[in-house]
Amino acid sequence: MSFDELTLFISGPTYLSERVRKAALLPEFGHRDKDAVLRLKPAMEHLREIMGISPDYAVLLIPGTGSDAMEASVRSLVRDDERLLCVSVGAFGDLYAAIARSNKPNVEVLRFPDGAAVDLKALGRKLEELRPAAVTVTHNETSTGVMTSVRDVCRVISEHGALPLVDGVSIMGGAPTFIEEGGVAMYSSSTQKCLALPAGFGIAAVSRAALRKAKDVAGRGYTTDILEHAKCAEKFQTLTTTSTSLANQLFVQTEYIVNQEGVPERFRRHERMRAMTHRWTRSLGDFRLFPKAEDASVSVSCIVVPQTLDRGALKERMRVRGYLFDPGYNKLAVPSMRIGHMGDITEEMLGSYLDALQEELGSLSAASPARALSSQEPSGASS
Ligand SMILES: Cc1ncc(COP(=O)(O)O)c(C=O)c1O
Repeated sequence: MSFDELTLFISGPTYLSERVRKAALLPEFGHRDKDAVLRLKPAMEHLREIMGISPDYAVLLIPGTGSDAMEASVRSLVRDDERLLCVSVGAFGDLYAAIARSNKPNVEVLRFPDGAAVDLKALGRKLEELRPAAVTVTHNETSTGVMTSVRDVCRVISEHGALPLVDGVSIMGGAPTFIEEGGVAMYSSSTQKCLALPAGFGIAAVSRAALRKAKDVAGRGYTTDILEHAKCAEKFQTLTTTSTSLANQLFVQTEYIVNQEGVPERFRRHERMRAMTHRWTRSLGDFRLFPKAEDASVSVSCIVVPQTLDRGALKERMRVRGYLFDPGYNKLAVPSMRIGHMGDITEEMLGSYLDALQEELGSLSAASPARALSSQEPSGASS
């Protein structure tokens, strides 16, 4: 049995470097043995540096994925007699709301249109009206490529006396989190996006104040109880069995990010890849960014494409060239594609990908003139 060797340019999971692949072959270990600490203590300390947080926050490793950390945040930090507001700018904000509703009785949603960013005034009004105890926010909306200012949005939430719960799944490791500046109570992320690892841990930063509040929340569950996770994290262990291959990879990769590439340079590389992708998009007359440029994500670009573009055919042509192409989130009102430029993807790799994509776009329109790329703006495009 052989599998295609594809370089992933989707919005996650992302490309794995040789370094990360090889790290999976390091020795397995007992997750309650001192050998676990050898991997997880430095990994958790590096994650603290990558997230830019002080000891006022605990770093939790939650076996599972980002959604498990998000579920733990609402389950552990919102009492049943409290109101939870979910702010959404797209499919993943809606996911946080769905997770919230399946755990808590009193959930309200403030939805902004796909492609738009959070409107601070509208948020302020909603907070005045509802007085929620906690508010969920998506740092980087992967479906639309919109990045939220955690600092600004969470400050407004904190000023209204609510706890900000932030989904940073598709951006942590690629940009500053602004967790402390925003007074974030719990920030949830995962391994398979900007950290460029396989999926398998939810990663969370939880404030000490939030951990104190959790003691007053009944029905926290077991795998969703952040107090249980925090107890294990103090011993540099996980609550349930650790994936030992992923722990080895996490150790090696966070060591690389902090001590070789450097966190500030990693963030700058993500910004440069965003700029490259924006330039490329502008160079194709009939393609455009879905969000406003100032709201655009550093890790994933969502691009509106002509209605006539056969994205399925393009995906298969890119597969033949050794790439996994992302044909966009299928529920958007406009036809789109996404380019995941996150994790360990280099500018050189992105340049080759964009060149290949441009060639295939050209040969697709030449092969099928009836479906030639139109210069018309697709209808129904949002801001
Ligand atoms: C912004 C965002 N939130 C949450 C999730 C769900 O994360 P996971 O698949 O790690 O549970 C994703 C996955 O793509 C995402 O992009």
